[in-house]
Amino acid sequence: MQELIAFVGGGNMAASLIGGLLAAGHRSQQLRVAVKTTASARRVGERFGVACGTDAAAAIAGAGIVVLAVKPQLMAAAVHGLRPAPDATVLSVAAGVRCATLAHWLGTANVVRAMPNTPALFRAGISGLYCDPALPALHRTRAEAVLGSVGGTCWVPAEAQIDAVTALSGCGPAYYFYLTELLREAGAALGLDAATAARLAHDTFIGAAAMARDAGEDEARLREQVTSRGGSTEAALEHLEGAGVRRIFREALAAADARARLRGDELALQAAGSPGPATA
Ligand SMILES: NC(=O)c1ccc[n+]([C@@H]2O[C@H](COP(=O)([O-])OP(=O)(O)OC[C@H]3O[C@@H](n4cnc5c(N)ncnc54)[C@H](OP(=O)(O)O)[C@@H]3O)[C@@H](O)[C@H]2O)c1
Repeated sequence: MQELIAFVGGGNMAASLIGGLLAAGHRSQQLRVAVKTTASARRVGERFGVACGTDAAAAIAGAGIVVLAVKPQLMAAAVHGLRPAPDATVLSVAAGVRCATLAHWLGTANVVRAMPNTPALFRAGISGLYCDPALPALHRTRAEAVLGSVGGTCWVPAEAQIDAVTALSGCGPAYYFYLTELLREAGAALGLDAATAARLAHDTFIGAAAMARDAGEDEARLREQVTSRGGSTEAALEHLEGAGVRRIFREALAAADARARLRGDELALQAAGSPGPATA
């Protein structure tokens, strides 16, 4: 991909993507970034050797891909008056800002919405993506090239499912951190010293995650294989099932999904009263 990629926003998520694109072989001259403050512009420019300023309109001029990576509540102000080229792909990673809202603000239908997650910082992310199925395939290809530079990509068939993606993989790293913390604490309560409990908890999850991904069997089957009748694993799993952990996870993800939907509704309501491209 030789075309120009412009970023509006140069914070954590944009930095992950810029780092990923450079590592994947994109030249720094292909990338332009616009941020809000001159101090950030200097920092981002020096860190990546890319053109970075505070004029978003100049940054996106002639860009084939415009990546929107500002906080959702600042998006309206950040894109105000911007006009991407007619054939440009707009790729937004902002939580809760819907395709129709971005199309309204930017005067283009070529919008792809994505929900990446924080392991993108380590190029081990997974992103859910959505765009109108009627959009030319080129826009999907471009979005996959950007997000694929920091991890895997999964398309969902309906925009509402981005809320479910948020609940699962967007919030998922926090669930994992939480479970690691619980395992570590429980190990320490059994008498292991803190450092040993931490190492065992971390490496157990990492090893099990690699097995679950690469063993070619589903998790339930893998779990059965390590659960001997009458053994310690069975004792622990019976306790977890009996305490309703399966139900609790379903409810937890439903709560996250509902919160993401509500946030999207609020942002859509605000956007409905905001100027579109004709009046910007
Ligand atoms: N971080 C994650 O793991 C993650 C995961 C999924 C989705 N996201 C989404 O990614 C988006 C960015 O998150 P982040 O964590 O990268 O935020 P962040 O670190 O706070 O960075 C935000 C960036 O936006 C810039 N900005 C603010 N107003 C602007 C404007 N008017 N014009 C141009 N740039 C402007 C800021 O510039 P200054 O530094 O100059 O203020 C900063 O570079 C959010 O919408 C979030 O929902 C993030």
